[in-house]
Amino acid sequence: MTRTDLSNVQVAKDYTGLCGLVADRIAALVQTKPNAVLGLATGSTPLGVYSALVRRHREEGLDFSRVTCFNLDEYYPMSPKSLHSYRQFMAMNLFDYINCPNWFVPDGLRRSASEIEQDCLEYEARIADAGGIDLQLLGIGRTGHVGFNEPGSSPDSRTRLVTLAEVTRQDAAPSFGGIDNVPRQAVSMGIGTIMDAREIVMMATGAGKAAIVRAAWTEDPTDHIPATWVRRHPNVHLRLDEGAASLLLEASLTN
Ligand code: GLP
Repeated sequence: MTRTDLSNVQVAKDYTGLCGLVADRIAALVQTKPNAVLGLATGSTPLGVYSALVRRHREEGLDFSRVTCFNLDEYYPMSPKSLHSYRQFMAMNLFDYINCPNWFVPDGLRRSASEIEQDCLEYEARIADAGGIDLQLLGIGRTGHVGFNEPGSSPDSRTRLVTLAEVTRQDAAPSFGGIDNVPRQAVSMGIGTIMDAREIVMMATGAGKAAIVRAAWTEDPTDHIPATWVRRHPNVHLRLDEGAASLLLEASLTN
């Protein structure tokens, strides 16, 4: 049997170390390419990366003035003013504190299917006009979703309206004050959009992600676990803390 390829995996001792690794990579990119295009993610996982970048902006003058950022997804329907929106999440955790004027989040406002479709095409075109994404940051959901590409998402999917899995809605329920308040849909970049990035950094923290991380990095690529497609990217890096890495390391020793 072949051993699991872990050459693109790095494990930090804890969450702080993990976020330091990822923030260092983003900072190095922004320093060497001041007009870099970043693809950014929401969820609790990247929060420490964003605070590290804010600190580096304040203390070291890390300059985002020519950087362009595109977020992966937004709930639908969702007002951009809602505190539950990913737009507000990104403002409150990053963009209110750094000097990056060009940042975009898919629009979650309620509108017709054809308007959504048109806006999704424009989101893709805007990414292309910016020169394509240099580095895409990803978390991973318990279903193996990336962005909101739930099981069933094909590797050539593009930005579109998607339906959220029940597990994903349950995971979001506490922050919405109950599952009934969690939207059933979202607008998300597709797997194809993500795979077009020149570099992908996927991160995961804690033992709760250990099983899906192992599946993502050991199972054959399948629509059932969208993150398995990401592993096929020629320049992908998986960054974990010890909790999230525990089952993957075990798997690599036993096969
Ligand atoms: C949401 C986001 C994903 C994120 C996932 C995991 O579903 N759309 O981009 O990766 O949550 O969230 P967390 O980092 O809180 O575990």
